[in-house]
Amino acid sequence: MKVTVVGAGNVGATCANVLATREVANEVVLLDIKDGFAEGKALDIWETSPINLYDTKTVGSTNDYAKTADSDVVVITSGLPRKPGMSRDDLIATNAGIVKSVTTQIMEHSPNAILVIVSNPLDVMTYCAYLNAGVDSTRVVGMAGILDTARYRSFLAEALNVSPKDIQAVLMGGHGDTMVPLPRYTTVGGIPVTELIDDETLNSIVERTKKGGGEIVNLLGTSAWYAPGAAAAQMVEAILKDQRRVFPCCVWMTGEYGISDMYLGVPVILGKNGVEKVIELDLNDEEKKLLSKSETAVREVKAVLDGMNS
Ligand code: NAI
Ligand code: 2OP
Repeated sequence: MKVTVVGAGNVGATCANVLATREVANEVVLLDIKDGFAEGKALDIWETSPINLYDTKTVGSTNDYAKTADSDVVVITSGLPRKPGMSRDDLIATNAGIVKSVTTQIMEHSPNAILVIVSNPLDVMTYCAYLNAGVDSTRVVGMAGILDTARYRSFLAEALNVSPKDIQAVLMGGHGDTMVPLPRYTTVGGIPVTELIDDETLNSIVERTKKGGGEIVNLLGTSAWYAPGAAAAQMVEAILKDQRRVFPCCVWMTGEYGISDMYLGVPVILGKNGVEKVIELDLNDEEKKLLSKSETAVREVKAVLDGMNS
């Protein structure tokens, strides 16, 4: 199995490192436009193999797509990250150009690949990749929900003083401040979270989750990479091993939840064909309202991309 990660920056290199360390694939190719950058990162990762005891080959490439040929899964992280004061949406024009060019070149060399998109603004960059990939929408999927629920779950674990392993959660909507964590579908070792935590604490955790990306940007001066890289790697593993994991992912909507013709975050089954199935939850009126608000926010950014393409 072969995986390419485009963009050898913070998120891409972290994702490649997790993929190699966990031996998810036999070969991981890192590609970047910066001269020697991907080769340097790939070599550094490879030099951890005798310490971390794995044998996944890591290969770097400066914009040479021949090295990515016949990849089974390609993760696209190339693009600018957020700086303090910027929203994810501020990145649209630059990152759309990058995602378009990368997707086209990737598909020329790996026509059967499944694409996992990470670049921001996530929902619309996933749409951008889909427009340029020329494959079924089930093969182009965006990473955000695993990261956002991981934040939510880690905050809950801290507040409840329990292992994050025992917290299960689902979250819907766009990767932005309008995302919709769903406390009604959050459990701790099978127990509804609402039985273990008061409303005020739960609401403050939901609000912190929505601004979780910004919290890191304010601390670091750039956006997060450990959790995003690990989240993208988890998606790759689910696809390559046909695990049929249930994750919130950004997918092309075809009427589910009454939403069509856009990419948005919903729970799905992820397996060897990419998006195997969208899971439709029975949302209450308040949850529907929040999802609709998030849909509107993503549609506004999508309209900017559609305007650029028309
Ligand atoms: P970074 O700046 O560390 O790395 C980006 C890399 O992309 C750079 O090394 C750059 O040289 C490379 N690049 C730029 N244009 C390229 C091209 N045409 N071909 C190949 N490589 C190219 O940024 P970081 O922190 O890794 O973030 C990457 C992207 O992921 C950003 O857009 C960021 O906003 C997004 N992101 C998304 C998350 C999500 O949940 N979906 C979470 C975290 C980041
Ligand atoms: C994050 O949520 C900025 O999308 C990036 O960390």
